[in-house]
Amino acid sequence: MMNARTLSVASALATLAVLSPPALTRSSGILPSSSLPLTRNASASCGSCHSGTPGGPTVQVQLGLRVLSGSQTTAITVSATGGAAGTRGGLAADVTAGQLIAGANTRTSTAGNALTHSDDRSRTWTFNYQAPAQTGPVEFYTVVNAVNGDGRTNGDTWAFHGSNPTNPVSTPVRMYVNAPGVVPIGSGCADGYGNVAVYGAPHPPTLGNPNFSLEAIGLPPSARVMLIIGLQKNMPSFDMGVMGAPGCFLHTDLAASVYGISTPGDASRAEGRFVIPVAIPSNPVLKGFFFRTQVGAVDASPGARALPVVFTNGLGVTLQ
Ligand code: HEC
Repeated sequence: MMNARTLSVASALATLAVLSPPALTRSSGILPSSSLPLTRNASASCGSCHSGTPGGPTVQVQLGLRVLSGSQTTAITVSATGGAAGTRGGLAADVTAGQLIAGANTRTSTAGNALTHSDDRSRTWTFNYQAPAQTGPVEFYTVVNAVNGDGRTNGDTWAFHGSNPTNPVSTPVRMYVNAPGVVPIGSGCADGYGNVAVYGAPHPPTLGNPNFSLEAIGLPPSARVMLIIGLQKNMPSFDMGVMGAPGCFLHTDLAASVYGISTPGDASRAEGRFVIPVAIPSNPVLKGFFFRTQVGAVDASPGARALPVVFTNGLGVTLQ
């Protein structure tokens, strides 16, 4: 039979059970799902529970490597500056291919393609990304909530990655997974909105391959594009700062070039794309033949350089 003391302990425990949050509170993250695609649009993101529209923090994404080979791993750091006072925050992120590997203050979905914070004590998150075996373009999406730490959903500020924190649509960070025989050379430079285009090849450069192609994504849309091909095996990258394009490097000599126009799209989200099919002859003499290539485009954005151009990473292609 219960005495008064055990009865009061029991009722205290019962009250505690009601008051204490479930094992996994929002402080330990929220993952995107098909009904709540947190990382894409304002209509179904952090603001569907936390206060209001996007704005407040500015979201930065730093990548170890943007252009990878199949199954290669690199580090990603997402951080936010500005927004609600304090140092507490959370994020949601996902990739269109490959796996995110949790770091110290993050956790991933069972499928491994999505990630969130595992506590609310930081506004910086470092974790890893492993490229899929499958080649081609990859997009990384993220949204950050800079919270005020009151454990409630009001007074928090959130924003997508992109040039404008109030943009209701997320801007992806582009990556590329290359076929064997294609390696990146150096890196590309950001456009006036902060987007970095990537350049890759989804099919291996094997002799007689009719499907080989070179693909640049994340370019300024509807822009004049120049694809450069060079033949020098060893060539230091050339700093284009002296030409009025600081931060941009030329990673190839100029043996041949092709001009064109990138596909149309949203300029602030760098939706331009440029693809060139290159049927590789089957002549066995060409085995081991090396060429370099890089894509440059005119950058019409308000934040463009004195010489208004952007360049992708370079590529070194060895015919197999
Ligand atoms: C389905 C509603 C809902 C959505 C969507 C949502 N949250 Fe929350 N979040 C909550 C609730 C409720 C709390 C407070 C209670 C708690 O800790 O469980 C909270 C608390 C938090 C906290 C801790 C707050 C604090 O003050 O300590 C962080 C960080 C957080 N959310 C981040 C996010 C991020 C980032 C997103 C978007 C990717 C997001 N939340 C989307 C409901 C939501």
